[in-house]
Amino acid sequence: MPTLTGSIRARLSPHGLGLALLTLLTGCDGQQSALNPAGVGAQSIAELFWWMSGGALVIWAAVMGIAIYATQAHPEAHGIRGARWLIIGGGIIFPVVVLTGLLIYGLMLMPQLRSTEAIGLRVDVAGEQWWWRVRYQTEAGDKVELANEIRLPVGQRVAFSLTSPDVIHSFWIPSLGGKVDMIPGRTNKLVLEPTRTGTFRGACAEYCGASHALMNFAVVVMEPEAFTDWLAGQAQPARAPDSALQQAGQRAFLSNGCSACHSVRGTEADGTVGPDLTHVGSRLSLAAGTLPADVEAFQRWIGHTGEIKPDVRMPAFGMLPGEQLNAMAHYLSGLK
Ligand code: CUA
Repeated sequence: MPTLTGSIRARLSPHGLGLALLTLLTGCDGQQSALNPAGVGAQSIAELFWWMSGGALVIWAAVMGIAIYATQAHPEAHGIRGARWLIIGGGIIFPVVVLTGLLIYGLMLMPQLRSTEAIGLRVDVAGEQWWWRVRYQTEAGDKVELANEIRLPVGQRVAFSLTSPDVIHSFWIPSLGGKVDMIPGRTNKLVLEPTRTGTFRGACAEYCGASHALMNFAVVVMEPEAFTDWLAGQAQPARAPDSALQQAGQRAFLSNGCSACHSVRGTEADGTVGPDLTHVGSRLSLAAGTLPADVEAFQRWIGHTGEIKPDVRMPAFGMLPGEQLNAMAHYLSGLK
């Protein structure tokens, strides 16, 4: 049971006070907040941020105090010697000591964030225009591909290999850790360790073209058993359509050239240009966090890609008859 004084003290701690202030100011919901950490890396970054913010506040107050004092003090109140010491002490010694301290503290945080020891899971993520290609390798050796959604087991260190086929993106899950650029021709590494379960949001943090702001992804941190079940499910081929409408949707999907770009494992669709759709109906969002994953959104997306996501590579199929679009939407959203 927290005592009253204990909870008051907790509320008045610098972290608690600052967080309360920031929440008031921005109303951030925590799904995509570096200041509401759910991972080891994010925790270190948040601590560094609070130390720097606290220090900046103290220094600002001191400088303001001296400035106000200077406007009030008599010009002859301090000798040339006192003035010289204020300049040397406040202008040279103090900044050198403070900035060196902060630099050492920041550098000391880095090795633990980059350590590749005790990695429990490896995930490859490629930044595409404008979506995220995510690949897992299961223990059985199956390669599992999905898009715009990353699921992780809580409490395990996960090594990400980050690449891009064309332009520079930056991979960022603020709740879990720092951001790392995805650079064509390079493979960058990032290690994250989620500390609590929940659904978080990842984003691209480097301007990469017209729809840079429309490439987001969901990050679901799960209990390890639930994660293992989920990954085994993702390794399965797509389920067969189970209604006449879905069957019509599958026929429309295969006959309109969708399979040139998309894979649906277990069918003849084996394109690799666009997102793998084997279990697209089970995802939390559509079009990289742009639309909800329901039947209406699938239909809207297929018919109006460019209006929803400027410069997207997938052409709009608005010329197809409405019933074909509807059937396709039912087929795809049924791919759980
Ligand atoms: Cu990808 Cu910005």
